[in-house]
Amino acid sequence: MTPPPHDDDAHLDRTRTTAERVALLLARMTVEEKVGQMMQLDAGGDLDELVLGTHVGSLLHTSPERLRRAHVLVGRTRLRIPLLVGEDCIHGHSFWEGATIFPTQLGMAASWDAALLEQVARATAVEASATGIHWTFSPVLCIARDLRWGRVDETFGEDPLLIGELASAMVRGYQGDGLTDATAILATAKHFAGYSETQGGRDASEADISRRKLRSWFLPPFERVAREGCRSFMLGYQSIDGTPITTNAWLLDEVLRGEWGYTGTLVTDWDNVGRMVWEQRLQPDYAHAAAAAITAGNDIVMATPGFYDGALDAVRDGLLGESDLDRAVARILTVKFELGLFEDPRRPDDARIAAAIGAPAHTALNLEVTRRSLVLLRNEHVLPLFGGCTAGEDGRAAHGDPDRRRIAVVGPLADDAQTQLGDWAGGSGQAAWLSGQPRELITTVLDGLRALAPADWTITHAPGAEILTVGPHPDGEHFPDGQPRPWVVVPAEPDDRQIADAVADARRADVVVAVVGDRIELVGEGRSTATLELLGGQIALLEALAETGTPMVVVLLASKPLVLPRAATDAAALVWVANPGMAGGRAIAEPLLGLIEPAGRLPISFARHAGQQPTYYNQLRGQHGDRYADLTQEPAFVFGEGLSYTWVAYEDVRLHEDAVEPAGSIRADVTLRNVGERSVRETVQAYVSDLLTSASWAEQELKWFGQVDLDPGEAATVTIEIPVADLTIVDARGKRVVEPGEFELRVARSSRADDALRARFTVVSARE
Ligand code: NOJ
Repeated sequence: MTPPPHDDDAHLDRTRTTAERVALLLARMTVEEKVGQMMQLDAGGDLDELVLGTHVGSLLHTSPERLRRAHVLVGRTRLRIPLLVGEDCIHGHSFWEGATIFPTQLGMAASWDAALLEQVARATAVEASATGIHWTFSPVLCIARDLRWGRVDETFGEDPLLIGELASAMVRGYQGDGLTDATAILATAKHFAGYSETQGGRDASEADISRRKLRSWFLPPFERVAREGCRSFMLGYQSIDGTPITTNAWLLDEVLRGEWGYTGTLVTDWDNVGRMVWEQRLQPDYAHAAAAAITAGNDIVMATPGFYDGALDAVRDGLLGESDLDRAVARILTVKFELGLFEDPRRPDDARIAAAIGAPAHTALNLEVTRRSLVLLRNEHVLPLFGGCTAGEDGRAAHGDPDRRRIAVVGPLADDAQTQLGDWAGGSGQAAWLSGQPRELITTVLDGLRALAPADWTITHAPGAEILTVGPHPDGEHFPDGQPRPWVVVPAEPDDRQIADAVADARRADVVVAVVGDRIELVGEGRSTATLELLGGQIALLEALAETGTPMVVVLLASKPLVLPRAATDAAALVWVANPGMAGGRAIAEPLLGLIEPAGRLPISFARHAGQQPTYYNQLRGQHGDRYADLTQEPAFVFGEGLSYTWVAYEDVRLHEDAVEPAGSIRADVTLRNVGERSVRETVQAYVSDLLTSASWAEQELKWFGQVDLDPGEAATVTIEIPVADLTIVDARGKRVVEPGEFELRVARSSRADDALRARFTVVSARE
């Protein structure tokens, strides 16, 4: 039964300011309703109890049916405060059947194209908002440095500038023209901060980062999106220097809300509050944990059912005042008013769902971003295959040469549709109501080559190897909070018969396309890996294929950079495609056949050995020597690296001026020339080295990048402009400063210093 309108429904008066509306509503709420408002619970629980009993303010992970029911239940509550519905729409509307699933964040980062990522986020918002989602827990701004971490795939890679550019583009895309826009969803900057800096790659282990290092590398991307209007931040699981982020008042209050002026909401990560009791053993009970979290400035507490009684006990026992709750609840209600949920709770809309989910424009965008995400790492004159094809009239590629060609497509991932989507994608196990995305919406590499290769070419297929099986966790199937523990991975043994079949195909073929990599069981929360090698029978398979002498193109379909065997690094060609999403197979087949140019650049380095960790390019200067006694420190492939089928020469770099003041900008022209025979998009990267610093600093940092299209033979002049204010270091007192003195600009096709065009300039002290 709908309660009668209440005289006090003054908060519904749209002529009032948001602050007035918040105050009016807050004044009517009981302490129980306030505590419930702060809770975000998994909609898989007893919905009646969540909405009517706990007064829950927010739900996550809700199936379409349960979401509709939850809205009905809200109508029966005393105050009818609309729900805030959150979901992990990480690279597309992950848990909606038939939604457009883009490449993972790491894959898309290889495009180095912020405008394209803004469009991806916009398309995701259009799809998600139609289904009644108000809030996505994306993007991830963590810096990926230890490749063993299980969540490297969710990041934009290793560089703070690239992360900041791409993240702010995605925030703009999600939040659209402002939160009142019905197609806007709240973006979340996560996981604030330092979550990726795990010890030994172990997920959520204590991060050993000083405040100075946080300010140097980890905080800048977050500061950027906070200042640009990202309306929610999610806190990491981990502790720094003994304090969980959940209770880190310095980070939350002093830095985020104080220095950066952030006014949005803070949401904990999954059961951060409970973990302080049962996992980290830092709080004696839920009352103390709730009090600590609220006092530190958290607003929404994700997936801690015990928070309800804990917070009420804390108020009863005097650990918290009701005014402490009010601050958090006011911020939550502010966002709900900003989204206009009191006027329109933004329920699922069938007409919009039909138009938005998997819309042709989104599918086309997906294909484009996937093409741009592929990174060609090696090419010994084998790609494009047989000199390349042209677009034929029947949608297939055409080849001028009448020879019929035979391609052996091998490998356990050549036709594994769900694995290709990666984490947060339906088949990844996080959504109980979905076992995967419809097969017909996904093109695998096998599908792509079968569909696109000239009709008279023969495409054979043999898996050649298994990767792994799984077994139950030796400590039991569930964590103490009832969450399932991940299975334990058991690498598969090489299978002689499978290998023999693949080798037989390879011997009969003109070229082998071997698709290898990792599987979802090796990716995600709690799934860090001790090793980085290709698991199971994959190395034996590649070695056997290499011995056939048939030229081999290795397609590495791996969530994160792996350590590759010689058979892969010495193969005729090697391309990394991360988890390329639904359009992956087509987007991979096109460059193999020469229909498009590979243009992606690595957003993260590839190690030669797990023992080299970390291999990020912007390491601090100063060590004895530059190699291990038994191995180089050089990564296998460096940040920024990637090939195309043509070659762009970097001819010269000219500074506009060689001395600049702190308020000025350093400007330089660089001439590029496409000296090959195919059109290309080149990603120009400008690194700066501060030659003498008062505190230890990176040898060089990316400070600018841009892209330019060049036809064969075409030359272009690109102007690089970098404000001197960006040439900062963080000094020993923790202050970000520009230190006058000598700098070197390095313009290059990658972070590998020997590639660079160099020019020295001086930053002079400001004139009095
Ligand atoms: C935990 C993950 O760390 C976070 O990234 C995600 O958004 C939440 N769970 C919700 O699923």
